[in-house]
Amino acid sequence: MAYETLLVDITDHVAVIRLNRPEALNALNAQLMEELARAMRAAQDNDKVRCIVLTGSEKAFAAGADIKEMSKKTFVEVFTSDFFTPETEDILRVRKPIIAAVSGYALGGGCELAMMCDFIIASDTARFGQPEINLGVVAGIGGTQRLTRFVGKSKSMDMHLTGRFMDAEEAERSGLVSRVVPVKKLMDEAMDAARKIAEKSQLTVMTVKEAVNRSYETTLREGILFERRAFHALFATEDQSEGMAAFLEKREAQFRDR
Ligand code: HXC
Repeated sequence: MAYETLLVDITDHVAVIRLNRPEALNALNAQLMEELARAMRAAQDNDKVRCIVLTGSEKAFAAGADIKEMSKKTFVEVFTSDFFTPETEDILRVRKPIIAAVSGYALGGGCELAMMCDFIIASDTARFGQPEINLGVVAGIGGTQRLTRFVGKSKSMDMHLTGRFMDAEEAERSGLVSRVVPVKKLMDEAMDAARKIAEKSQLTVMTVKEAVNRSYETTLREGILFERRAFHALFATEDQSEGMAAFLEKREAQFRDR
């Protein structure tokens, strides 16, 4: 499956999807978004893939939607095509975990794309921002909603209203990213995390993803009920028996996704 704006590599059950438009700091144009949605669907459908790492270059994860392409659009065009919504829905439908490995700029749609992933590992050179206000628009693929849930109202308002960038240290302090590592170690760290996830039972991995994401969509009481039922259901699996037996026998568990 050929991609012009992505590099895709599968090793150790991990699909690494690298945004690759260096001439435009990985700006998200229609072609890249279509290819990214396709690559995500392919990773979801490929039994060899157990975790996904989404990354960019050292200079930029993605500097936002492609302003050159976007500048010519009319209201009717963005409204009728539901600009980038079908592509983002494909990414959000992926049930396997997606780690964003972010170095350099993650701005506008780039920051929003990172936030659609399950967690973000950042390099110490990462810069996050929602500068759409400088272009006379607002975030369009989740920024006002997701950033607010990650960092709270005050900082989210600050970022969206001033358009300023946040460095990696501030992003970690505010809960936007899970860890910050030196730029040269970014991919090693992301791959280590992905390989670790790939070793787990996919039944529990997918259940964790569903349950944590549920916390954004529902009340605490309903979320806890969902979690409790998911916990109960996992006792119907061989992997639960294996995981607990392995602990008691002081050996590594051999999960078989059953
Ligand atoms: C198109 C972009 C781009 C973008 C950078 N480039 N960002 N092209 N869309 N979003 C291009 C530049 O035009 C330039 O091409 C090349 O990449 C290198 O960029 P420079 O500006 O020369 O680099 P630098 O001086 O290092 O500045 C980096 C930067 C700046 C701070 C990231 O490029 C920047 O501010 N970019 C725009 C960031 C932004 O506003 N993003 C939000 C977009 S709106 P040439 O050909 O000139 O060399 C959005 C809405 C999402 O994302 C909603 C979706 C539905």
